Amino acid sequence: MATIQQIQTVFPQEADIPEKYRLPGFLEQTEYLIDGEIRHWSGEMNDILSPVMLQNEHGNPEPKIIGRTPLLTPNEALQALDAAVEAYDNGRGYWPNLTVHERIQHIEQFIEKMRQKRQEVVNLLMWEIGKSLKDSEKEFDRTVDYIIDTIDALKEADRTASNFVIEQGIIAQVRRVPLGVGLVMGPYNYPLNETFTTLIPALIVGNTVVFKPAKYGVLLIRPLLEAFRDCFPKGVVNIIFGSGRVLSGAIMQTGKLSFFAFIGTNRGANDLKKMHPKPHVLKSVLGLDAKNPAIVLPDADLENAAKECILGSLSYNGQRCTALKILFVHRQVVKPFMDLFCKELEKLKIGMPWVDDVKLTPLPEPDKAEYLSGLLADAHEHGAKVINEHGGTANNSFFYPAVVYPVNDKMRLYREEQFGPIVPIVPYEDVDTAIQYIVNSSFGQQASIFGNNPAKISMLIDILANQVSRININAQCQRGPDVLPFNGRKDSAEGTLSIRDALRCFSIRAMVATKYDEQSKTIIRQILKDGSSNFLRTDYIL
Ligand code: G3H
Repeated sequence: MATIQQIQTVFPQEADIPEKYRLPGFLEQTEYLIDGEIRHWSGEMNDILSPVMLQNEHGNPEPKIIGRTPLLTPNEALQALDAAVEAYDNGRGYWPNLTVHERIQHIEQFIEKMRQKRQEVVNLLMWEIGKSLKDSEKEFDRTVDYIIDTIDALKEADRTASNFVIEQGIIAQVRRVPLGVGLVMGPYNYPLNETFTTLIPALIVGNTVVFKPAKYGVLLIRPLLEAFRDCFPKGVVNIIFGSGRVLSGAIMQTGKLSFFAFIGTNRGANDLKKMHPKPHVLKSVLGLDAKNPAIVLPDADLENAAKECILGSLSYNGQRCTALKILFVHRQVVKPFMDLFCKELEKLKIGMPWVDDVKLTPLPEPDKAEYLSGLLADAHEHGAKVINEHGGTANNSFFYPAVVYPVNDKMRLYREEQFGPIVPIVPYEDVDTAIQYIVNSSFGQQASIFGNNPAKISMLIDILANQVSRININAQCQRGPDVLPFNGRKDSAEGTLSIRDALRCFSIRAMVATKYDEQSKTIIRQILKDGSSNFLRTDYIL
């Protein structure tokens, strides 16, 4: 278990940082990408504060500003939008008219260049958002795999679309075509992966985009700017830095966007969507807030439940949209469950992201520890306690996980998405308490059920299937594997993402149809023979 002394001295001295993970110096980034050109900004800048603090000569942790990024204005945002609009050219631009095979070649080139930046990006993930080395590497590799799988999925879709449908005297060919110009914004907890799981599918189907990186995890996009510039025709990808509300608001108000891919809060999404003058024109693909519950039934394998709930609630310090954010545990087993849970928690190593096997690391949001302490004070006021030793101990950006029991509906922790290392436990007698919680929740992403009785589990499955989008049996909530649909109900999401679904989200079907008669057949045969249409064709991508 982490001792108080370890928590108090969790931050290293400059000299303790392994050579390999040191930053090359202060990262002053003036660059942004518009219209195929890396431009330099000389206006206001945004300091990038690392969650990794450093001990000064008196042993006190001090914040470390690791770099600065541009705080662009609506003016640059609109220039980026104009470049994307021009590159799309109402669907007549170079990029939307390339064949699928040609666009895939651009993306493959990008993957090669991206791979060369692995170490730099992984290092910045650690410094900017405090993600452990192992999880940062996983985020990078999973993203590359996702892009490769997206290429395969697109090839498969294109092969299927090369057929003709002949029905009721009509011959038709149906293909998916791009939507137009889009805005892509990602979250700070997966600033690379979650952003690229919308950005890359949107691009590969022929759209053009403005991409605004997340609030934290911004500098890590810098090493990829040249790859974006060199692998895509000008104006296809434009990357701007600054305040989401200022830049995205200006873009949204123009009404020129056809789609909006956003992973963040439902409040942020609502505010931005409303700014579009014709909301029906805007297709939104959103991954939003969640408060995924676990239900531990009295006959559950408690050891497994405790281990999965630890993974579910505390991986990356609980900062996953899919995290288990409230645990409903049957009163009969709540005591042994909590003992096992706390025992597992004690095994989690604290430290800086590059420490071997580290699991608990500092938090990137500057006021997060204060916010979490506020949640604990509120829970305390309403009758709950922190039951694990040192739970809730804060040291600047580091917050040791707190297991809070017994949580009830008067507490903020019951409904608020803590998005951090606090685990609220609600004891129940009747499973209906948990069911009603889920029914009345404004979120509907996933749930986990822990138990062994097939009849009870099937009853819960049938109820929850109409409340949430994924029910995990004896396992934590999670997004992967990426071939499976990732979505949510109510305030948790709009649209479905998966390798295949994302391609559908960012495209629309278009069709060529004609009478199945000799005259039409002659025309179609000639078009196919000449290869004169990018759309109407039967070639097969090998
Ligand atoms: O923050 C939300 C992520 O999509 C979660 O993904 O379940 O694979 O950690 P994950």
